Amino acid sequence: MVRLGLIGGTGLDHWGSPVRSHALEGPYGCPSAGLAEFQLDGLSLFFLPRHGLHHDIPPHAINYRANIDSFRQLKVDSLIAINAVGGISPRHIPGSLAIPDQLIDYTWGREHSFSLDAADDLAHVEFAEPFDRHLHNGLVRAASIAGVDVEVDACVAVSQGPRLETAAEIRRFRQDGCDLVGMTSMPEAALAREAGLPYASICVSANWAAGVQGDPISMDAIRTTLSEAMIKVRMLLNAYFRECSNVE
Ligand code: HPA
Repeated sequence: MVRLGLIGGTGLDHWGSPVRSHALEGPYGCPSAGLAEFQLDGLSLFFLPRHGLHHDIPPHAINYRANIDSFRQLKVDSLIAINAVGGISPRHIPGSLAIPDQLIDYTWGREHSFSLDAADDLAHVEFAEPFDRHLHNGLVRAASIAGVDVEVDACVAVSQGPRLETAAEIRRFRQDGCDLVGMTSMPEAALAREAGLPYASICVSANWAAGVQGDPISMDAIRTTLSEAMIKVRMLLNAYFRECSNVE
């Protein structure tokens, strides 16, 4: 039976009615919430809301190490992350989905590795491709089966937050080759790699990034855009879950 992990982001804090919840605590402390377990056809799904059940943990204060370690404890085969982002490139209009293949990490001060202390095992993990190619391709296939448009081959800038970016920061990210900007893909992706968990992301454009269009970013507009786009995310994921069950 396949075991899948799912990390929900802004706009996806709940999945459904779980069969049980796993309250896991480990050497890195507590994850953002209990991990909700679902039994789907031929597949166990474990869901964690990254920002907590009440959406009160900001991006820089998330215990990314405990979150990833809890999926490791549950022995998931792979891990899908949902990340709300701002669109930088013209193709990433608000409400669109992307399955990125690259990122640049602009965050600072986060506990970004399982080997922070001299006493820890040193892990220079390979990270040229930060997202697992096989999982990425599986999600792209599922999007096509579900009839959901997705952009592929996008690069995500991961900024520190919690404030949104300045227009100059976004110009810099664009010059660096970034198409999208979010706050939560790192250190999550790197920790998943250290933990040996294949990891891929579905990015949901919530707004144009700062300065891309003249208007200030409105949190109300973000919420509305995200709740509409999450319908497509659920369709894509359900198609992916069906594909996983068929393979088994
Ligand atoms: N910047 C960073 N993170 C985000 C944005 C943004 O514009 N929108 C949603 N998450």
